[in-house]
Amino acid sequence: MTQAVGRLCFCNKTALAPMVRVGTLPMRLLALDYGADLVYCEELIDIKMAQCTRVLNDVLETVDFVAPDDRVMFRTCQREKDRVVFQMGTADPQRALTVAQLVENDVAAIDVNMGCPKEYSTKGGMGAALLSDPDKIEAILSTLVKGVSKPVTCKIRILPSMEQTVDLARRIERTGVAAIAVHGRTKEERPQHPVHCDAIQTVAQAVSVPVIANGGSLDLVKSHQDIQSFREATGASSVMLARAAMWNPSVFRSQGALSTEHVMEDYIRYAVRYENHPSNTKYCLCQMLRDKVESPLGKRLHAAQTSAEICEVFGLEEFCAETDDLTMEGDVATMPVRFDRREYPPQITPKMHLLEWSRREKLEQPAYETVQRALDRGFQSTVTVADKKYRSTLWEKSKKLAEQAAAVVCLRALGVPEGRTGEPDSGLVGKRKWEEKRSDESEEEKGAPARAPDASRSACRKRHLSKTPPQEEVKGQDFQQSFTLQRWAYRQSVSLKTPMPSEPTPGSPPTFSRRVCLPLSYGASHIHPFNSPHAFQ
Ligand SMILES: Cc1cc2nc3c(=O)[nH]c(=O)nc-3n(C[C@H](O)[C@H](O)[C@H](O)COP(=O)(O)O)c2cc1C
Repeated sequence: MTQAVGRLCFCNKTALAPMVRVGTLPMRLLALDYGADLVYCEELIDIKMAQCTRVLNDVLETVDFVAPDDRVMFRTCQREKDRVVFQMGTADPQRALTVAQLVENDVAAIDVNMGCPKEYSTKGGMGAALLSDPDKIEAILSTLVKGVSKPVTCKIRILPSMEQTVDLARRIERTGVAAIAVHGRTKEERPQHPVHCDAIQTVAQAVSVPVIANGGSLDLVKSHQDIQSFREATGASSVMLARAAMWNPSVFRSQGALSTEHVMEDYIRYAVRYENHPSNTKYCLCQMLRDKVESPLGKRLHAAQTSAEICEVFGLEEFCAETDDLTMEGDVATMPVRFDRREYPPQITPKMHLLEWSRREKLEQPAYETVQRALDRGFQSTVTVADKKYRSTLWEKSKKLAEQAAAVVCLRALGVPEGRTGEPDSGLVGKRKWEEKRSDESEEEKGAPARAPDASRSACRKRHLSKTPPQEEVKGQDFQQSFTLQRWAYRQSVSLKTPMPSEPTPGSPPTFSRRVCLPLSYGASHIHPFNSPHAFQ
């Protein structure tokens, strides 16, 4: 293959190491922001990736590799295109090539994991099992080097003797790889064992391709300055950090690390922006909390189920204000939202707003259907508006609250104001309408927090009316509304755009042949055998 212009160079670089569950898009972008030169994705298994379809997500501005069950296995974006290294788990040269060709135009390099010592990886012949099958290593790497235009690398562990390690490294070098990452432990050694800097150094001296030193997080690399010391101690070209970066990715900052609180906030911002799956977000935040994971904050984080709830734990509700997780469950649009009476002025409810909006749009009156489950006698409502159904995934204590939650989902999905305090007044529910609505809403108000006496109620109404904006202000919301609608339309039924920036390679899986409903992004970890960091400890 001819070498592409601007190929990634592995000399004098600091990298975020591949880490299952940790190395998803928010962490990678954060590491880049803080100063990492390269970022590896979590290891993705070739069989799963080979089934994926490449989808241009023009709402999030990402490229998504979506599995047949609609899970997003790998999400990337322009910002990291020249810095992200795609790591795969493989034991098959042809399948490795298929996957490499599927992603090559969206990543900077392709890496093969040859270091995972766990049985579920090794029994499939992947990970550290490859270390004892140099013929297979050679076949995989040579096939990749010949078949893709991007640099190919691999990540190995050291072997029982230095002679064996050097022999293997030289054989790998001959395949034409652009770099070799060396984790300075044998496959039998655990992460708490000391790293063998001398072994990495011997490999670095024996080959002429760049060697990336790895394994120093626990006792050698505590700060940014230590990165250089680790590089010098190993004689390597570059350094790759896993745990030190997982605990605090600002270790890449040359100006010094930031507080965990600061880093967590930055992380959450990216997690929300890129719709990271909440369980993955939580996992990464828990790693950053480290020994504080049992603190009151850690416990609240543990209890959070949605991105909005995670934001709430950290007092960052505003991050989630317009990005609630909208998902299709069959033909029902769902979000995990609750109706919180305190967020609305007295007498104003989402149901009122939805009713008024439906009238204005000349639609039939919203129809609510409520079910109660035996488990905890919780209620869940589905509202139908214009033949479309909306429901909150959260169960409520009363029918009234469940209906309000369903109305909130519908209004948010449609980008229609819902009447919350502080929201620009839509003018949807005015004084006259309010008087009309009282009868419509009488049932829902039953059991609601004590009503204001008449005098204060009318004062509230006046306050509400006085906030009615001039027409232009209402129009000013169009941008947000259209953004929300665009999001909505995307998720409801996405027309896959073709061609993508890169044309599908002959032989790669058929793409764009169907319409998908994208759910939340599910981290690959959901189906990955490595579901715990202990896999590597
Ligand atoms: C949570 C976690 C997940 C990991 N996942 C991967 C992986 O997907 N691929 C891989 O090659 N190594 C993986 N590793 C190993 C690291 O990349 C690295 O080799 C090891 O942690 C030693 O580096 P350190 O001392 O900087 O932590 C993982 C390690 C951790 C802690």
